[in-house]
Amino acid sequence: MSKKLFIKTYGCQMNVYDSARMADALVPHGYRATDRADDADLVILNTCHIREKAAEKVYSELGRLRRLRERRRARGADMVIGVAGCVAQAEGQEMLERAPFVDIVVGPQAYHRLPELLHRRARVKASVLDTDFPVESKFDRLPEELATPPGISAFLTVQEGCDKFCTFCVVPYTRGAEASRPAAAILAEACRLVAAGAREITLLGQNVNAYRGEGPDGRPWSLGRLIRSLAEVEDLARIRYTTSHPRDVSDDLIEAHGSVDKLMPFLHLPVQSGADAMLQAMNRRHTADDYRRIVERLRRARPDLALSSDFIVGFPGETDRDFAATLALVEEIGFAQAFSFKYSPRPGTPAAGMRRQIKDAQKSERLARLQALLAEQARAFNAGVVGQVLPVLLERPGRHPGQQVGRTPYLQAVHVEAAGRGLGQTIEVLITESHSHSLAAVPVEPPAARPGANRRGMPACA
Ligand code: 5AD
Ligand code: SF4
Repeated sequence: MSKKLFIKTYGCQMNVYDSARMADALVPHGYRATDRADDADLVILNTCHIREKAAEKVYSELGRLRRLRERRRARGADMVIGVAGCVAQAEGQEMLERAPFVDIVVGPQAYHRLPELLHRRARVKASVLDTDFPVESKFDRLPEELATPPGISAFLTVQEGCDKFCTFCVVPYTRGAEASRPAAAILAEACRLVAAGAREITLLGQNVNAYRGEGPDGRPWSLGRLIRSLAEVEDLARIRYTTSHPRDVSDDLIEAHGSVDKLMPFLHLPVQSGADAMLQAMNRRHTADDYRRIVERLRRARPDLALSSDFIVGFPGETDRDFAATLALVEEIGFAQAFSFKYSPRPGTPAAGMRRQIKDAQKSERLARLQALLAEQARAFNAGVVGQVLPVLLERPGRHPGQQVGRTPYLQAVHVEAAGRGLGQTIEVLITESHSHSLAAVPVEPPAARPGANRRGMPACA
């Protein structure tokens, strides 16, 4: 009899990808996915450590799972509780001390060993921990077979880890040093995803544009080079990548934005602050003007490029003037969307020990002001496409019959009355309405032809 698996994912898109790969690793060992924790023989929380709130959520969820397990045990069933991801990596043994009822703690570089850990736990009848950074790459050990179909829009991790050591960030400690997958493995995975129905691939990495994977020619490939090769995959319609560091935006990548049609004109490029003093204290290795110049060059290559960013307010020592510089940068650049956070001190990072920590009330006040400005820009950006004809990739059925939900090239969600059109198709639509988080549209008949410059490339999936 097969056992049921429930994975709950917190945090970033890399975790979403990792959760899918954990399922891939477990399905050949007799597990199948369920969407209810109380129904599951194995529950895995794939956790995020980036801010304190995210990490604390894990412990409240673990308490809930423990009670669920007691109820299952009363019914004669059982439940194995596993914690994966960055909280598992950061806390390791500490987690087993705080929540000794957890059965398995596994870090982001070791989850290909889950089947083995489950066996070991059953054998020793005690909690097991694996937070190694093994020499073997998990990507070489994970099965190629997908446990669940990828969906129209799929993620593909090409790079992991970070060597930048921004002073606020736990990533270099939880995910380790930068490592890039070989281009051939990525191309092969892209072909499998497309063969299984994906039409859009988002290349993932903590610092994705630092990608330097080995090319089939034995030389390191840049992200731009990789994107150009992926664009040759016949039925792949759209390519995106996230998340990037301004320091690693190369000429080659800017060029790709200008020349590769399949590379979507939307870029998430975190800046964190508009004040040079803060950027320096954050060890960002770029100034506000560097960021402005990069954006200017990108927009020259691709004039309709829409931008997204991350911001931190209330970093230690942030003055009113520093914060005003962030607001000024936002005004100047104009973002289609953005994420903004109050600075959250993370154990073991340099900024946590810095003097002049900012009071929470001050952080909240600044966050509210920044978010009001960003929300206004997002609203204006969405309103700006009303009346335009845009290509929309249809990704899933909408709430009522005949409706489908897709995205514009600028990552805006669109509800389209597109009866009769298949998911996975890119259709031309007229945008009729904009709301705070989505657009409404109707198909344009007949569908206008899209430029297909990249389709003449050789079929890349033999
Ligand atoms: N406090 C607040 N925000 C943070 N981020 C990363 N670390 C912290 C922290 N300690 C934000 C950054 C990053 C995004 C993923 O999370 O803006 O780009
Ligand atoms: Fe963290 Fe900075 Fe690396 Fe991004 S670039 S993962 S913020 S250390």
